[in-house]
Amino acid sequence: MIELKNVSESYVNGIKVIDNISLKVEDGTVFGFIGPNGAGKTTTIEMITGILNIDEGDILINGKSIITEPIEAKKQFGFVPDVPDAFEKLTGLEYLNFIGDVYDVPSEERLKIVNRLSNEFGLTQSLRDRIQSYSHGMKQKLLIISVLLHNPANWILDEPMTGLDPKASYTLKNLMKEHSRKGNTVFFSTHVLEVAEKICDKIAVIDKGKIIFVGTCEELKEKAKISSSLEESFLKIIEGK
Ligand SMILES: Nc1ncnc2c1ncn2[C@@H]1O[C@H](COP(=O)(O)OP(=O)(O)OP(=O)(O)O)[C@@H](O)[C@H]1O
Ligand SMILES: [Mg+2]
Repeated sequence: MIELKNVSESYVNGIKVIDNISLKVEDGTVFGFIGPNGAGKTTTIEMITGILNIDEGDILINGKSIITEPIEAKKQFGFVPDVPDAFEKLTGLEYLNFIGDVYDVPSEERLKIVNRLSNEFGLTQSLRDRIQSYSHGMKQKLLIISVLLHNPANWILDEPMTGLDPKASYTLKNLMKEHSRKGNTVFFSTHVLEVAEKICDKIAVIDKGKIIFVGTCEELKEKAKISSSLEESFLKIIEGK
């Protein structure tokens, strides 16, 4: 469960890029975060994950405040950023072992998960190569595996489909659904509305730092009075404010 309570953030000149956001992401749901470029998705995700300090409000992850209990809060989630940066000089396998050590994942379990997921993502052959030789998509796959290695209760992803080939994107969508079905939370930002429509139990739409809609895809279509596509409904509520 991820809970944002009256969260605001400014970068420069005191202009709020996030303006008093409150949001509850319940357990057992795949929750999509959608909005135009510059709306504040990455900023929000960076506040949830403790990368950015929060100006106002609080964020609780499984009840732990990222402000007052940052280490406990950080144990509650796994994060795949929009730019998949890892330690370039390590091999993929060394990186996964490093993450496994950080999160105390027993070696048998580690091996099982790495074997299964690297096989599903077609990454097995590259695990002994240095990360610096990986393509964008390969790095992304490695980060996805590293997050699932410690089976976080909350899985947070920023634009995870970008750079993934169709098969990997399909695999990832299934992993996200599977993760939520086990009672976990998946919170991800995306521009790919077909993906949101297909896998999200709930979505939030953010525009200019404000949440302008929270509900199901069907409810968004009802609100926009368009029954055909989520894309048209999204454009209508973004433009029609
Ligand atoms: N480091 C920064 N310094 C100053 N302003 C920033 C910084 N990062 C983001 N912003 C501003 O904050 C606002 C929100 O940006 P953010 O990256 O959160 O948007 P986004 O919804 O993730 O967009 P995209 O869909 O393009 O990834 C934008 O107006 C952006 O210009
Ligand atoms: Mg972004």
